[in-house]
Amino acid sequence: MRKRRVLLFALVLSLLLSLNLAVFAEEEIPSLWEAYSDYFLIGTAVNSRTLNTHRDLIVKHFNSITAENEMKFDALQPTEGIFNFYRADQMIEFAKENNIQVRGHVLVWHSQTPSWVFRFAGQPATKELLLERMRNHISTVVGRYKGQIYAWDVVNEAISDGPEIYRDSPWYNIIGKEFIAEAFRAAHEADPDAKLFYNDYNAVEPAKMQKIYNMLKELIEEGVPIHGVGIQGHWSIEHPDLLQIMRAIEKYASLGLEIHITELDLSVFAWDDHRKLAEPTPEMIEKQALRYKNLFNIFKRYSDHITSVTLWGVADDSTWKDNYPVQGRKDWPLLFDVNHQPKEAFWAVIEASK
Ligand code: GLA
Repeated sequence: MRKRRVLLFALVLSLLLSLNLAVFAEEEIPSLWEAYSDYFLIGTAVNSRTLNTHRDLIVKHFNSITAENEMKFDALQPTEGIFNFYRADQMIEFAKENNIQVRGHVLVWHSQTPSWVFRFAGQPATKELLLERMRNHISTVVGRYKGQIYAWDVVNEAISDGPEIYRDSPWYNIIGKEFIAEAFRAAHEADPDAKLFYNDYNAVEPAKMQKIYNMLKELIEEGVPIHGVGIQGHWSIEHPDLLQIMRAIEKYASLGLEIHITELDLSVFAWDDHRKLAEPTPEMIEKQALRYKNLFNIFKRYSDHITSVTLWGVADDSTWKDNYPVQGRKDWPLLFDVNHQPKEAFWAVIEASK
């Protein structure tokens, strides 16, 4: 009898202890956004699924969210005049409930835009019609979320990677470069308090940076309401050079613009590395952590200009980098692993906050 009681006591005690330990371990993981609260917002891209499957991590570590796809043109207005705000609204609600701010992404882009936008009666749309559709889309979307979205990516990826200045896109080909200025004007009219951003990739590569810089400067000189530039940051553990990143930040900041890092993730692979691995090598894990640390040190150093840093996803079990650009290749670009545990990269980012 006595033996049984002692056993029971020991059992209860060890249960309590392990519970306690679990709570303790949980508390020991610091919150990312709290660690950076003196510097900038810490954001993550979410989708309707990860809002549930990654809820705990999102709520604990991030104070800004971006919809991965749910606020793109094809999601919001798949058919002319028929808007679908269901999923976007859900995100806004989620953010409100959890005291999180929302970055709007994206109003005008060549990709994920339905083909009806650029056509009329079997022909390419006229300049007037396309401008009208663009303004209508922007005023409807930005107007709906007025006061609830702190920054919008108004135009995404309008600059070319090749020798020409502007990307060859239906927006540019039909309207000309003024589609950019017009998009910003329409967004500003719909929500004068929202910060309006131009967003692009390869934005720190010297040649493309110069073209982006020239365009931004021209817009500012014309009095176009533009407030910031988004550096996407789909980088890798090798690339690009940290010095290039610093130069780009300084260059854009010299225009008096705010800077957001909008889509940060660090692939463990070089772009054309075709190896398919079951897990990242120890060397990759270490390199990635070091690079995240260096990057956040740089972001901190420029935090007078950088006001928001968003990772493009929450944890390695859900990332667009799987299969891209190499089909069948798993990648591990984020701060939390496939089991939602903090990686070395996470601890390195925390270290950099101190
Ligand atoms: C671009 C877009 C993002 C996203 C990524 C790939 O960077 O701006 O919305 O689609 O490509 O996931």
